[in-house]
Amino acid sequence: MKRYARPGLLSLAALATSICLAPASPAAAGVAAGWQPDTLREAAPDGFVVGTAVAGGGHHEDMPYPDPFPNDRKYRHLVAKEFSSVSPENQMKWEFIHPEPDVYDFGPADAIVKFAAQHDQQVRGHTLMWHSQNPEWLEQGDYTPEELRTILRDHIKTVVGRYAGQIDQWDVANEIFDGSGNLRTSENIWIRELGPGIIADAFRWTHEADPDALLFFNDYGVESINAKSDAYYRLVQELKADGVPVDGFSVQGHLSTRYGFPGDLQANLERFDALGLETAVTELDVRMDLPNDAEPTPEQEAVQASYYQRFLQACLAVENCDSFTLWGFTDKYSWVPVFFPDEGSATVMTEEFERKPAYDSLLETLNAARLAQR
Ligand code: G3I
Repeated sequence: MKRYARPGLLSLAALATSICLAPASPAAAGVAAGWQPDTLREAAPDGFVVGTAVAGGGHHEDMPYPDPFPNDRKYRHLVAKEFSSVSPENQMKWEFIHPEPDVYDFGPADAIVKFAAQHDQQVRGHTLMWHSQNPEWLEQGDYTPEELRTILRDHIKTVVGRYAGQIDQWDVANEIFDGSGNLRTSENIWIRELGPGIIADAFRWTHEADPDALLFFNDYGVESINAKSDAYYRLVQELKADGVPVDGFSVQGHLSTRYGFPGDLQANLERFDALGLETAVTELDVRMDLPNDAEPTPEQEAVQASYYQRFLQACLAVENCDSFTLWGFTDKYSWVPVFFPDEGSATVMTEEFERKPAYDSLLETLNAARLAQR
């Protein structure tokens, strides 16, 4: 539950009073003197976490640099300094953490969970049931339905159990619907071979392995009220009516300035909130068409900044949207140019870790929300 007033709901008089009161603490003295936190995590209101994906695996393996998270000291420093939540970008996906039938590779995931504990950060686990980035032994294996069921249950018990108490939110089911709101019955091995009932089982097994973690559906293209988000809206109601431990619905937020801002984002989050669910933003980035010199114009940067700001404001305004994660914070490691060759500059910092207007818009919005909380 949000522990602060909504930005915009606080009266100017209340804000003035909160700033003019005699300072009762060094922090309050800082506010009185006009000091403002200068990192995202410090600027955030109490109870609101700001996260980043932790770069590694996936597209990075094809790049001419070493795996980012273990090797880039400046990057690590900023992950710790700027963020209060981390999401393994690839390191907990099946092909990385479970590369052979009887082999788990926990090293990179362990390193992230340990780093998070050292820096007082939450962790979002990503992901347990997906149609992509599965190992060949699984996708090409000749398993019976009963064997596949056991494989999924054992995987969930092993991975979720290992990090029990250390992961705050799990993306249990990732991208299970297509753009028309149909279950991915051919792409998703679990749904194809075991039927849709396996979704409920995955949530139940995850809950058994870590009763304290919040369990999410996560997808892209569900920022607005549309066929895909409608499909989730129906499914979570059915599952909750059956007593399945579903806690949350998260929107990834891979935006492009080509397609405009999803103006009904807040309304969409609110309808899931009204079902008693947590909501979250899990993978925000805002890509754009780059000019020939690959440098965004000031106008493009301003549009991008407004998208980031509006996305954050929508989450802040929704009662139980308390986790806001960027899919990387520097263009140095963004997945975007790999997948969208004409687009880029999608994150809030340049390749040299310089802050863009988008970063400033987030910082300013978080500071305003924190002040409104007092
Ligand atoms: O599996 C192939 C391999 O067979 C091939 O030899 C190799 C050569 O390029 O590519 C391998 O695929 C790579 C894949 O990661 C597997 O590790 C892709 O090239 C690479 O682009 C891919 O990138 C990851 C992508 O997920 C895969 O879908 C990105 O690093 C990662 O940022 C991205 O993250 C996803 C979230 O998990 C879910 N939401 C969308 C988001 C962005 O796509």
